[in-house]
Amino acid sequence: MFRATLGWLTLLQLSRYESYDVPWVPTRKELLKHIMRVAKVGPNDIFYDLGCGDGRVVIEAAKRGARGVCVEIREELIKTAMENARREGVADRIRFIHGSFTDVDLSDATIVYMYLLTRVNKMLRPKLERELRLGARVVTLDFEIPGWRPVHVEKHYTGSLERIIYLYVKGVSDLHA
Ligand SMILES: C[S@@+](CC[C@H](N)C(=O)[O-])C[C@H]1O[C@@H](n2cnc3c(N)ncnc32)[C@H](O)[C@@H]1O
Repeated sequence: MFRATLGWLTLLQLSRYESYDVPWVPTRKELLKHIMRVAKVGPNDIFYDLGCGDGRVVIEAAKRGARGVCVEIREELIKTAMENARREGVADRIRFIHGSFTDVDLSDATIVYMYLLTRVNKMLRPKLERELRLGARVVTLDFEIPGWRPVHVEKHYTGSLERIIYLYVKGVSDLHA
């Protein structure tokens, strides 16, 4: 009986985790300047990267004067992100959160960056609608937010691969949800 219960618990936990699990595929460095320009990152911004990997995107935002929040579920990656930020001299501008982006309050974000998957963006959409302030920008790479209308879309090529940057604005993009 105990073993069966444990089995179900494990299965439930796994399926909950898999519903938002995303592998680590870093944003290509040559895209960073385009992402910063599209998001209009500046010194007044609070830039969240949901699933920040090795921190490269939030570090770039911090170098442009923003304050950053780097949220990452994998311990080895959040440690790498901290080391990278220290090496780049911006660690004091970034808050590092080792945990799930589903548990992080987004109400002070002016920009949210997500390089996730369409189904994960869809799962996060109600959270973005609840927590983001009007005018907050949301930038996604390669994967749309289903039900939101982007205010800007641009394509770039890294080698032969097409990359798509989507820009959404809270209060504009979500009116069509
Ligand atoms: C495609 S990678 C993007 C990494 C980084 N944002 C970048 O663009 O270089 C997605 C990241 O999300 C992380 N991740 C997956 N599920 C997560 C969760 N629930 N909470 C926080 N991070 C998560 C993965 O570990 C991975 O590092």
